[in-house]
Amino acid sequence: MKLDAYRLRRATIDDLPALYRVCLRTGAAGDDATDVEDDPELLGRVYVGPYVTFEPKLAFALVGPEGVVGYVLGVLDTRRFNRKLKDEWLPKLQRAERDPGDDPTRWRGSDWVRHAVHHPFLELPPVLASYPSHAHIDLLEDARGHGIGRHMMQTMMECLAGLGSPGVHLQVNPRNAGAQAFYRSLGFVPISSTDLPEDTLFMARRIADDDEMAGGPPGGLVS
Ligand SMILES: CC(C)(COP(=O)(O)OP(=O)(O)OC[C@H]1O[C@@H](n2cnc3c(N)ncnc32)[C@H](O)[C@@H]1OP(=O)(O)O)[C@@H](O)C(=O)NCCC(=O)NCCS
Repeated sequence: MKLDAYRLRRATIDDLPALYRVCLRTGAAGDDATDVEDDPELLGRVYVGPYVTFEPKLAFALVGPEGVVGYVLGVLDTRRFNRKLKDEWLPKLQRAERDPGDDPTRWRGSDWVRHAVHHPFLELPPVLASYPSHAHIDLLEDARGHGIGRHMMQTMMECLAGLGSPGVHLQVNPRNAGAQAFYRSLGFVPISSTDLPEDTLFMARRIADDDEMAGGPPGGLVS
């Protein structure tokens, strides 16, 4: 694989179908969810669409020789973003999707996403107050393991620092040990609190006064 064949650029609304495909192919705790989800677009419509729509300055697409192969998406002010989700984005999805109920043993296919549509966690509890921004990142398999994810997260943190953010948090599937190791290598630490949902792991890091953000991108990556 040639690293100089990859380029990081701002994502646009036109990228949504390709970004949704990346979301599906990384949606099973980092693995391909194509055979798991019954709605191939729903994951993307929940976890990608609102970011590109509401925070386009913090939405980046990784483009390889065959098109979009990854993204890093960020939000400066999680409280403000969550209000927009609640008022402008989720109502349409809630009308379109049935609520699968609260018993996970009865969920099939994309029901876990449908449940998140109807019962979203939209709080920013005090334990996350120092980390008001959030982000998430996904790369298709061929792009992984070459330092590209590190560069993408560093780009995101530099953007957030430039916008005045003091800290960033993110959510990781507890089964996704690889992503947890990745975030740890970037200085993120697990945050635990009874105010946070139990089925997801929150990690966070300060981004002000940062010396870990120095370090150049691998060849060919521009942002
Ligand atoms: C997690 C992910 C974003 C990491 O991006 P990447 O380009 O593969 O990671 P990098 O090559 O930049 O690695 C950066 C550091 O993280 C570590 N790391 C990355 N993936 C790792 C893994 N699976 N296991 C252990 N460590 C890992 C690397 O060892 C490296 O450490 P170093 O710089 O100290 O040597 C990418 O692998 C991915 O998209 N995976 C599938 C989707 C996913 O899990 N997304 C996160 C959802 S919360």
